[in-house]
Amino acid sequence: MATPAPLLQITHLQKRFGKFQALKDIDFSIYPGEVFGFIGPNGAGKSTTIRVLLGILKASGGSATIFGQDVWQHSVAIHQRIAYVPGDVYLWPNLSGGEIIDLFLKMNGERHTAKTDALIEEFGLDPRKKARTYSKGNRQKVALIAAFSTDADFYIFDEPTSGLDPLNEQTFQNHVLALKQQGKSVLLSSHILSEVEKMCDRIGIIREGQIVETGTLAEMRHLTRTTIDVQTVAPLTKLAELPGVHGVTAKHGENHVSLAVDADQLTPVMAYLTQQQLVSLTTTPPTLEDLFMRYYEAPNDARATDGK
Ligand SMILES: Nc1ncnc2c1ncn2[C@@H]1O[C@H](COP(=O)(O)OP(=O)(O)OP(=O)(O)O)[C@@H](O)[C@H]1O
Ligand SMILES: [Mg+2]
Repeated sequence: MATPAPLLQITHLQKRFGKFQALKDIDFSIYPGEVFGFIGPNGAGKSTTIRVLLGILKASGGSATIFGQDVWQHSVAIHQRIAYVPGDVYLWPNLSGGEIIDLFLKMNGERHTAKTDALIEEFGLDPRKKARTYSKGNRQKVALIAAFSTDADFYIFDEPTSGLDPLNEQTFQNHVLALKQQGKSVLLSSHILSEVEKMCDRIGIIREGQIVETGTLAEMRHLTRTTIDVQTVAPLTKLAELPGVHGVTAKHGENHVSLAVDADQLTPVMAYLTQQQLVSLTTTPPTLEDLFMRYYEAPNDARATDGK
């Protein structure tokens, strides 16, 4: 079966600022109908990657295409089919929120519609106030309302919910899921891992200007550890010696412990636990946060080899 052509394709993308190489080697693709989560620590290069994609910055090497067109050479044509929301939304201070929404729409060749009104209502924005009076969250809402009322093929959000309260964050998530159902594609950079976990089909982790991992959350889970709380009839004396077992902590003597197990060692560890006759067992699957912390803390590519 033929895979559809990617909507976004980034190959060996590099960006230098003087001597500083902000992007060393960025590689990932986004396919039609996909929500792609872009995560990584502060300063990893997410916004720089996005600025290159938008044609704001010129790459120093490699290539990036959207809709099969080079992002630098064809930025004008590409912009007609994308909607973008930055994390730090700049608004004209003397215009009202409503005027700015209409201006954003006009710049994208769109018009204020009933959908725009519904979005203003849903996000609870007062569009009559001057932008200079808006809080960070309200400024983000202005940009989000304009983006969601735009009929684009590709939506790029760079930390769009950092200033939103939980209710508005939920509204944001609902609209992203609606876009996905319409077959639109989304690039979402976010530090809110639960949001990424909930909404993204695939995830790319960037660290120091390099993509260290891409895949579905299920694919990434094999790199992580499952947490187990177990109680047995016989004491679990040998548990700590088994390969892939980490952080054995006694909860109540040697018969009730908690531990973490590498995904590839789950079978032998479970066999040992069963041998000791299970009384109770609770497992907690690794979260995106666990996975992410490992990349945050560990130096380059320590995921497969780090010790205890
Ligand atoms: N115009 C610039 N000139 C020089 N260095 C820059 C410039 N823009 C970004 N950088 C550097 O490039 C690196 C990547 O920055 P970037 O803003 O892309 O990070 P980020 O992943 O978006 O971080 P955050 O999560 O904090 O938003 C940082 O070290 C930053 O200081
Ligand atoms: Mg950023």
